[in-house]
Order: sequence, then C-alpha cells, then structure tokens
Amino acid sequence: MTASAIQRVTVLGSTGSIGTSTLDVIARHPERYQIHALTAHTSKEALLAQCITFRPLVAVLDHEADARWLRAELGRANQPTDVMVGPEALCDVARDASVDIVMAAIVGAAGLLPSLAAAEAGKRVLLANKEALVMSGALFMQAVARSGATLLPIDSEHNAIYQCLPVEHRGGLARHGISQLLLTASGGPFRTWSESAIAQVTPDQACAHPNWSMGRKISVDSATLMNKGLELIEACWLFDARPDQIQVVVHPQSVIHSMAAYQDGSVLAQLGNPDMRTPIAYGLAWPERIDAGVEALDLFQVARLDFETADEARFPCLPLAREAMRLGGLAPVVLNAANEVAVDAFLNHRLGFLDIGRLVEGVLSSPLEGRADCLDSILWADQRAREHAAGWLKRWSA
Ligand SMILES: NC(=O)c1ccc[n+]([C@@H]2O[C@H](COP(=O)([O-])OP(=O)(O)OC[C@H]3O[C@@H](n4cnc5c(N)ncnc54)[C@H](OP(=O)(O)O)[C@@H]3O)[C@@H](O)[C@H]2O)c1
Repeated sequence: MTASAIQRVTVLGSTGSIGTSTLDVIARHPERYQIHALTAHTSKEALLAQCITFRPLVAVLDHEADARWLRAELGRANQPTDVMVGPEALCDVARDASVDIVMAAIVGAAGLLPSLAAAEAGKRVLLANKEALVMSGALFMQAVARSGATLLPIDSEHNAIYQCLPVEHRGGLARHGISQLLLTASGGPFRTWSESAIAQVTPDQACAHPNWSMGRKISVDSATLMNKGLELIEACWLFDARPDQIQVVVHPQSVIHSMAAYQDGSVLAQLGNPDMRTPIAYGLAWPERIDAGVEALDLFQVARLDFETADEARFPCLPLAREAMRLGGLAPVVLNAANEVAVDAFLNHRLGFLDIGRLVEGVLSSPLEGRADCLDSILWADQRAREHAAGWLKRWSA
C-alpha cells in the first residue's frame, strides 16, 4: 500500500471498549491507517496516553477543565495535538474533510449527532453506536444514501449478517432470496437463573458477561436482553427487514455471530472467537481482509454449538423493543431514552434489575405522538422520555 492510500481515521469514544479495540487493530497496520482525532467524555488520562501513542491532530473532551489539563500535559510531552471541547467538536472531527473513516463508538444517545455528522459527510462509517440507529433509523439511512457514505456495522451480529448477505442487499430481503435473519444472542449472565434470583442481582454481576468484555451500559443491556432488542431494531434499518423477518436465537457459546437463511434452504453463518477486533478489522479494511490479532477459531475446542429460544417472560425488554419497532414513529426513541435512564439508575444502585424493564414499559405506555423524520422531533422525544423516566424513578423512590 502506498503512502497516498493511507486512510485517516477519527475514533469517537476512543477510550471505551470498542475504541481501545479499534486502536489495537490500527496499531497493527501503521502503513494503512493514521489517526486524525481521538475523543473521550471524561477519561483524560487514558486519552493522554492514546495521544502520545497515536499522535492525532485533534483530541476532544467534554469539559473545558479536563481539556486545559490535557493541553498542559501534551505541551509537557512536546505533542502538538489540538484539544477541542464539547459535542460540536465531536461533529467537527467526524465530518472533517481530511477524514476517510469514522469509528462511531460513543455509547448511547450522546453518539447520535457525531455519528450522523459522519454519515452526512459521506465517510466510511463504522457503526458501533447502535443507539444512533435506533433513535434515527430513517434519517440516518437517508443521510447515508444522500451522501454516498459507506455504512459498515460493527455490532458482531450485524457484521456477521453483512458478511452473509449479497454485496448489494438494499430493497428488502425477499428480493435477494433471503427468508429470515437469525440474530444470535448469548443469553447474558442470567440465562439460566430463576426470576427470583434475577431480582437480586448487583451491577457487578450484570456487567460480568460470560463471553464478551464490554462497557457497563451494553453489559447491562446484554443481561436484560434489551441489547438484543436494540439490535433487532438496528437490523431492521440496516437490512431493510421487518421485525417479523428477524428471529432471535440464543446461542450460549457466542461462536456463531448471526446467520442469514435463504429461500433455497441454505443458512449462511459467520463464526469466530468472541473478539470485537474481528468486526472492527472487517470494517476498517472492507472489502479487503487484514490481521485483527484474533486467534483462529479452534472448532475442536468449541466442540458443540447449542441453540435455544429466548425466554421473553423472564426478559421482557426484548419484546418491548420489538413492539417499539412495530409501533414505529417516536417509540424507539422513547424506548432507548427510558432504557438509558433505567440502566444508569441500576448501575448507581437506585433501581433493581427487574425494574429496568418495568420502567421502560411504564414510559412506553404514554406514547409520544409524532414522526421520527427530523432531528428536532427525535431530540425532543429523547428529552421528554428522559423526563418521564426521571418522574417514574422519583415516584418509585418516594
Ligand atoms: N463493547 C462491545 O463489545 C460492543 C459490541 C457491540 C456494540 N457496542 C456498542 O458500541 C458503543 C460503545 O460501547 P463500549 O462498550 O465501547 O462503551 P464504553 O466502554 O462505555 O465506551 C464509551 C465511549 O464513549 C465515550 N462517551 C461516553 N459518554 C459520552 C458523552 N456523553 N460524550 C462523549 N463521549 C462519551 C466514553 O468516554 P469516557 O471513557 O471518557 O467515559 C468512551 O470513550 C455502544 O453503543 C455499544 O452498544 C459495543
């Protein structure tokens, strides 16, 4: 690869689980990738260490005081990185004309605007921030179509499906002979637990995922199966599918990352060790393949693959998400916002594990009228749903 072909990358959320895995893959290929910008919320020490290793042109933090500290430390290290502050700076580094690839790895609704900015600017968008697509699916996909952006899913399930579909798969599944998408789920740490045992779980237990090492919010979402619900909505937008064309398959080994079933009876699957560096490397290099630092899958060690249906009675967040997608409009925005408030309250010991689903159901039961076809109404609904959720929390703790 020649120097002129070097790709410039912005990593949004570089200090998180996906962000650090992305930098791990990038560090293996200095001849292919150069970092333009790295961003964090408050992890200034981690961001400093990343800046010294990857020498980005820009670093972004959320607070001016943290940014002042980072500027001083970078000055001491003779490092000329420009330090910017706040949400608008995140959008700037996502849409910068010199950037080729944007890894969208901020967690939650905070990632919506910069992920959308990257899509509008026609970048190669590596989308880990599923909440952005849950909130703004139609708008996001229109922005991709209008700008000519390349949207590559990083969620391992969607990345697997992407690999199992024909290169051109827009226009509905049936058009390409696909009968169903099979979205695999590990089932989370409480798959075999009774409801009474699940009621007592602590945040640390919920974050101890059996197969994947992830940030705390997505770990809780995996434990409630809300993560699978958000992924179902994400898959509808990415692959032009209806909720009833997607079947959730609990597969505790997390070796098959998802599948596509074709009308001729073929089922194509993508397998691999549960390591996010595989989908990240796929997204960075597509359509080429590069070393991700991931060990080859040893099928003899795996030995068996199990499959179960999801227990939607013990894990009601999954049917709630499916229902929100079926309702459409602003319902997925409300679902996502209520879930973010509930998960935060659970992680801060203000809510029990089973209350997460109850709170989301409660907030969803007062629907917000409106269409999710412009950013203003999406942001309005996100805000209103957070207020509703905060009201529920207050009533419960009174
Ligand atoms: N982890 C996985 O294996 C995995 C797999 C599939 C999909 N995903 C998706 O990828 C996204 C990231 O997940 P993660 O597990 O990497 O999360 P994480 O470890 O919590 O990292 C989140 C990143 O976003 C930054 N951030 C958080 N709040 C922010 C805000 N308000 N403004 C700006 N930046 C903010 C964090 O900065 P600080 O470090 O300063 O807090 C951190 O860099 C999520 O949408 C998740 O669903 C993750």
